[in-house]
Amino acid sequence: MAQDIFDKVNAILADINGANPQGKDEVEQFRIQYLGSKNILKPLFGEIRNVENERKREFGQLVNSVKQAAEKKFEELKAAAEEASESAEAGSFDLTAPGEPLETGSRHPISVIRNRIIETFSRIGFTVAEDREIEDDWHNFSALNTPEDHPARDMQDTYYLLHDTERLLRTHTSSVQIRTMENQKPPIRAIFPGRVYRNETISARAHCQFHQVEGLYIDKDVSFADLKQTVEYFAKEIFGHNTKIRLRPSFFPFTEPSAEIDISCFICGGDGCNVCKYTTWVEIGGCGMVDPQVLKNCGIDPDEYTGFAFGMGVERIAMLKYRVNDIRLFFENDVRFLKQFDSAW
Ligand code: DAH
Repeated sequence: MAQDIFDKVNAILADINGANPQGKDEVEQFRIQYLGSKNILKPLFGEIRNVENERKREFGQLVNSVKQAAEKKFEELKAAAEEASESAEAGSFDLTAPGEPLETGSRHPISVIRNRIIETFSRIGFTVAEDREIEDDWHNFSALNTPEDHPARDMQDTYYLLHDTERLLRTHTSSVQIRTMENQKPPIRAIFPGRVYRNETISARAHCQFHQVEGLYIDKDVSFADLKQTVEYFAKEIFGHNTKIRLRPSFFPFTEPSAEIDISCFICGGDGCNVCKYTTWVEIGGCGMVDPQVLKNCGIDPDEYTGFAFGMGVERIAMLKYRVNDIRLFFENDVRFLKQFDSAW
């Protein structure tokens, strides 16, 4: 008789361990059945009187362990059911919810400046020409008066193509000046925006890729005064009408005479600051009168035509204009950075 009762309790224990109710309702049924106020275990307590005295303790322990097993199982089932309903909720779609606004992109600050430069020059009759980034030695160096053994080649650390020392990533967009002069008869009045590459250690102030805008004006009787006027017009348009320019004698193999272009520091207005390093002048590019040999190299008669050329770095101008102190930011493309410039002009 007593063994019967033990068997019944053991059967209930097996049922509990094997139970697999699904969903909240079935789990609740499980709770009522094994843990509710009228649970299936209760009547068994009454049967204890039928158990021999020496096995009463054993029976009590067994009933208790069944109760504990039911509690443990219930906790597990409850947690699983909650998790399942949460993930079902996450997957469900509220079709009536208002849509999330689409994020619109913003123009890259380098594009903003580049477009502004193009617009400024197009107002005084300059057209835009673009060309390849992988250049040959002739267009990047030799035609620009920079033969193989010329020390000026060291000024620009060049990336050559593997297994092809004739071809390289252009180090400046002066190569497009050459291509334009080869293909077009003067008068020529054009600017050349584009990406250029130099084998430089990347730092806050230098990068191995950057953008330039170069310009070229070839016609009869073009003089250094025309160059100066053009540069001054440009500087005032970009940096403000109080801006002054200074042309500082320099050297480039493709221009003679050559000059660096400085603008008066528009940040401190002449008081001295850390942008102009307390000199009140900031360098923005180079320029000069096109060397007669360069004209000859492109089939233009230097006795008939003269011209000027200039070149400047777009990142440099953007850094000055927007007070950005690390050139790498322009290439990392963090939208939190990029978003700040779209309407900045
Ligand atoms: N190509 C020069 C550079 O990348 C910049 C430059 C200087 C361009 C003088 C010119 C120029 O056209 O006349 O450093």
